[in-house]
Amino acid sequence: LWLIAATTFLAYVLGSVPFGLLLTNLAGAGDLRQIGSGNIGATNVLRTGRKDLAAATLGLDAAKGLLAVVIAWVMTPPDFSAHAAAIAAFAAVVGHCYPVFLGFRGGKGVATGLGAMLALSPLTGLLGCAAWLGMARLSRISSVGALSAFVIMPLAALALHGFSFQHSPTPMAALLVSVLVIARHHENIARILSGKEPRIGDGKR
Ligand code: G3P
Repeated sequence: LWLIAATTFLAYVLGSVPFGLLLTNLAGAGDLRQIGSGNIGATNVLRTGRKDLAAATLGLDAAKGLLAVVIAWVMTPPDFSAHAAAIAAFAAVVGHCYPVFLGFRGGKGVATGLGAMLALSPLTGLLGCAAWLGMARLSRISSVGALSAFVIMPLAALALHGFSFQHSPTPMAALLVSVLVIARHHENIARILSGKEPRIGDGKR
């Protein structure tokens, strides 16, 4: 059991690494907290005008979620690995949203959640990525893509892995991750509903 505690802790610490802030600070691309939504994620890095840094943020934030799940999977005995991996997926997203390194004021968990879900259930993760890209493209609103993905993934995970927690903890992890990610978007949801959410490429607000 202490192994699961250790991989959960590691997943949380990994998730806490704020790549968006690190990269923009290193590149001198401005203070993310003062730009756009003030968020630390790839969408807001894009508002600095640096597409390369936004892509790197997206990739690295997704990679930390993926890595957290893979580490939990390989470090725990086979009997527990599925559950350890599911817990790690949620812990990594909690880390991104409430990072120990930023006084617990973090991001919204989209890239990290997608990475974690890709590792936990590749088909669920791919469906999430497809929904995210497709809806972001159609609406030209990043948060609409993100919200669509995190509505689709728990449903996809349930359809693919069934309802039994004993049998597979993946749907439960997908549900917890989605509830957290969607809750972190409450300001975006309010802006979407009032038609004030900025579109991709609109530049700084
Ligand atoms: O991934 C976060 C995105 O859904 C919204 O980001 O910066 O527009 O709040 P932002």
